[in-house]
Amino acid sequence: MNILILGGGGREHALAWAVKQNPKCDRLIVAPGNAGIARIADCPALEIEDGAAVVDFAATHSIDLVIIGPEAPLAAGVADDLRAAGVSVFGPSAAAARLEASKAFTKEICDACGAPTAAYARFTETGAAREYIKTQGAPIVIKADGLAAGKGVIVAMDEATALAAIDDMFDGQFGAAGAEVVIEEFMTGEEASFFVLCDGETLLPIGTAQDHKRAFDGDTGPNTGGMGAYSPAPVLTDAVVQKTLDRIVRPTIREMARRGTPYQGVLYVGLMIENGDPRLVEYNARFGDPEAQVLMLRLGAQALDLIQACAAGRLDQVRVNWADDHAMTVVMAARGYPGPYAKGTEINGLDALPEDSAHMVFHAGTVEDHGRILANGGRVLNVTARGATLQQARDRAYAMIDRIDWADGFNRTDIGWRALD
Ligand code: AMP
Ligand code: GLY
Repeated sequence: MNILILGGGGREHALAWAVKQNPKCDRLIVAPGNAGIARIADCPALEIEDGAAVVDFAATHSIDLVIIGPEAPLAAGVADDLRAAGVSVFGPSAAAARLEASKAFTKEICDACGAPTAAYARFTETGAAREYIKTQGAPIVIKADGLAAGKGVIVAMDEATALAAIDDMFDGQFGAAGAEVVIEEFMTGEEASFFVLCDGETLLPIGTAQDHKRAFDGDTGPNTGGMGAYSPAPVLTDAVVQKTLDRIVRPTIREMARRGTPYQGVLYVGLMIENGDPRLVEYNARFGDPEAQVLMLRLGAQALDLIQACAAGRLDQVRVNWADDHAMTVVMAARGYPGPYAKGTEINGLDALPEDSAHMVFHAGTVEDHGRILANGGRVLNVTARGATLQQARDRAYAMIDRIDWADGFNRTDIGWRALD
């Protein structure tokens, strides 16, 4: 089959790598891709949020399956346009992707189906929101309703921070995403993510992961898109997974189907677990980045069979073959990230690294220039390894990092500490 993946980060490199292992894959195109992806796929320029352009491209290149990586094309309705044109697509409709694109919508769904989540209230103007914060007190969590590239959530440990966040949001700091604000109870516990394929009716869990959002060791420093991740997540025991499916995921999927907007694609279930009870923090309508990197290394070639079955509405006919393994990815970022950083700095030593089912460097933000690999983003490389234990996966990942020569990059040295200590 001819496969088109939309996106150009580490998540899409990991998806491309897994898909490419599968003999069913004849031609692989990743748009726009990056320097690492270009070694295993064609990477043409394509306006990936323009549904008509993507439909046209799929027809011209006889594409049999489109896999949508990031949230923006989903929210823009690219999956709807492909389905309408009769192209098989992995990714939810814009209506179903509202589970990520609107925090208020997700809360409404939780209310309707009884899924446990933080108590909340919604606001469209400053005065009432400020009043609410004063009556609730801190800590409290302030969220812009819409997509804000992972930056629209402020966990306020004191009232002044919460009030300032309200002012920023209604002053338009997050544009239209902040026109409505959700204020939530601060939840305590341990966070983990759970990934479930859904074809509208059938659910298929495909793994668990934990990521590290803070920039520096010891989970300190500013929030980032994620500085590393590992799978499986020890806190998501079989019992917690069962509760998550019964109390949160199944009721949500049923409610989405009941509303005539069935969920088709991967559902990223962000959880807070306390005393063995899961509560929903957020949904995403796509794989996590960098969580996809560890999931794909563990799933390998079967990822394509699962994704294809999901897109075709026959998840009831497939199952996941689990190895008893562990994977870790460590993000190498440009010095300065998540603040201002330089682009175009040179990375050496990548060619000498092993590339096999236990070792992969996925590229997140790179370009190639006359054979040289240059950094081209904040998060640049995802150094990913698999092992019989998490410790072995970690040792393998950090051994690769030791051999990468990039003076302008940095990485955390303690990914997985919670699971390993
Ligand atoms: P979100 O974009 O909704 O995942 O929020 C980003 C991060 O903020 C989450 O990964 C949590 O660490 C934190 N967070 C969000 N909502 C809450 C909450 N109600 N209580 C505590 N922490 C939260
Ligand atoms: N790593 C968090 C996310 O992809 O949203």
